[in-house]
Amino acid sequence: MEIKKLGVVGAGTMGNGIAQVAAQTGCHVVMTDIEMRFVEGGMKKIEAFLGKSVEKGKLDAKEKDAILGRIKGTVDMADLKDVDLVVEAVLEDLDLKKSVFKEVDEMCRPEVILATNTSSMSITEIAASTKRPDKVCGMHFFNPVPLMRLVEIIRGYATSDETIRVTTDLAQRMGKTTVEVKKDSPGFIVNRIMMPHFIEAIKIVEEGIASIEDVDTAVKNGLNYPMGPFELMDLTGIDIAYHVTEYLYNELNKENKWVSPNLLKSMIRSGNLGRKTGKGWY
Ligand SMILES: NC(=O)c1ccc[n+]([C@@H]2O[C@H](COP(=O)([O-])OP(=O)(O)OC[C@H]3O[C@@H](n4cnc5c(N)ncnc54)[C@H](O)[C@@H]3O)[C@@H](O)[C@H]2O)c1
Repeated sequence: MEIKKLGVVGAGTMGNGIAQVAAQTGCHVVMTDIEMRFVEGGMKKIEAFLGKSVEKGKLDAKEKDAILGRIKGTVDMADLKDVDLVVEAVLEDLDLKKSVFKEVDEMCRPEVILATNTSSMSITEIAASTKRPDKVCGMHFFNPVPLMRLVEIIRGYATSDETIRVTTDLAQRMGKTTVEVKKDSPGFIVNRIMMPHFIEAIKIVEEGIASIEDVDTAVKNGLNYPMGPFELMDLTGIDIAYHVTEYLYNELNKENKWVSPNLLKSMIRSGNLGRKTGKGWY
């Protein structure tokens, strides 16, 4: 089954990026959010990104209009009734995701695949809130979606081979490199590797071993990573780093290595969340 019309639930950082890349691939997209101001905010981000591509000569102005013309922004979930696949990108909150999946399950045709962009949560548990757990999987894009190449395709306990095949095919048509996460395990591949490196970086600063700037400089020049951990957290959201760490701690046997450093908790309490506030570690 070829996906011609995609539903995206949540028009925030990830949702609008997913909608943009799908529309660039030629898909029609229905992008929903709870309030029109969030939908409009998402559309403005897409317009701004495409506008820059036109300025740089990477995209034709007519093509920009055609891409935007393929995206319909809405607050009416009923507009998802004729989409071929849905990607959910609401906040990283399990109860919210379960309630969104229940609603989308009632709204969409029975053969439609429902994918979640969760960074860490259980695909199996999200799938259990629907009547089609075989058609639920993880489709984990990275931020910023138009630029990051990877999508993790995650199998829940009941996910069918066909669901994995169709979702992988869609991600590859969107120009992404895919990997299959064969077991529904917290943090999947990338976050399971990334979080301990964030935690260690924060502990190094907390223990007075090195400054934030020097940790980032060390990681960029010594490991050849494009960004240091603090720069990366500022970009992706310190709140997300915190929530994912807490989730991994609870799900992975409460091992000490997943305990959030006090400095991370202080950042959250101070409201310096990186992308949300413009103020983070830097
Ligand atoms: N930001 C990242 O770097 C990143 C990377 C990979 C995955 N993720 C995951 O993607 C998901 C979304 O993250 P984000 O950074 O885009 O968050 P965000 O806060 O930027 O956007 C979330 C959007 O969901 C909307 N929303 C909330 N409840 C809704 C509902 N019931 N129906 C429709 N829309 C609703 C909000 O209004 C908001 O616009 C999370 O699960 C997150 O863990 C985030």
